[in-house]
Amino acid sequence: MKIIMLGAPGAGKGSQASRISAMYKLPHISTGDIFRKNISEGTRLGKKAKEYMDKGELVPDSLVIEIATDRLLQDDCQKGFLLDGFPRTVAQAEELDKIMKKIGKEIDKVIALEVSDDEIIERITGRRVSKVTGKIYHIKYNPPVDEKLEDLEQRADDNEETVKKRLAVYNEQTAPVLDFYKKQNKVYEVDGAQRLENITKDIIEILEK
Ligand code: AP5
Ligand code: MG
Repeated sequence: MKIIMLGAPGAGKGSQASRISAMYKLPHISTGDIFRKNISEGTRLGKKAKEYMDKGELVPDSLVIEIATDRLLQDDCQKGFLLDGFPRTVAQAEELDKIMKKIGKEIDKVIALEVSDDEIIERITGRRVSKVTGKIYHIKYNPPVDEKLEDLEQRADDNEETVKKRLAVYNEQTAPVLDFYKKQNKVYEVDGAQRLENITKDIIEILEK
């Protein structure tokens, strides 16, 4: 299973990808998570990525493609993977196709999560992430049960101003990626405004088809 999870910021890519990857034992590859790990470790890559992420802009393709290629060529990805937040430009999607071709594989399905802009702003401003487990919560929609409130933090780019910029960047640079995969007949649209567990059910149905 080689799956891409596509959707606007806050559409629920990370929440669904962690459920699906656990169920199917697939590596969950989030370029955003890789960058945030590098930022917290103070690496050169992290410092470079932070300049863009804090402004809600995309990290340059060359940097993203390098880290994604590196990750996809690792042993645990050879049987399948779940991509979250990559590819995000047509150039990245074309590069991914080239990598796949080189290793004699192909992307199977693209899950497109659809959520309205108003809902997205509410989701992102209420999101909290655990410093301990990395789990994603929402103060209203998905509050933690077992974790302490003081272990939760807000992402640096989760403020209303940056979210608006991220949405504009999504519409301009990432929406064309959907058309790229529609031409390959790989896109499956899912109503992302439902409850978390109903969305997971819809995704499983698509993957089992
Ligand atoms: P990235 O980390 O990928 O962020 P994003 O695309 O903006 O998406 P989010 O992680 O914000 O949202 P999500 O869809 O994962 O939603 P979640 O499940 O958390 O990228 C960050 C930055 O890194 C980019 O801006 C860019 O600078 C850079 N970057 C990363 N990849 C790149 C690339 N390929 N190229 C260039 N630059 C790149 O859910 C959100 C909230 O909603 C949570 O609180 C959750 O609990 C809640 N929620 C989820 N589902 C539901 C539901 N069904 N009902 C109610 N609440 C829900
Ligand atoms: Mg995410």
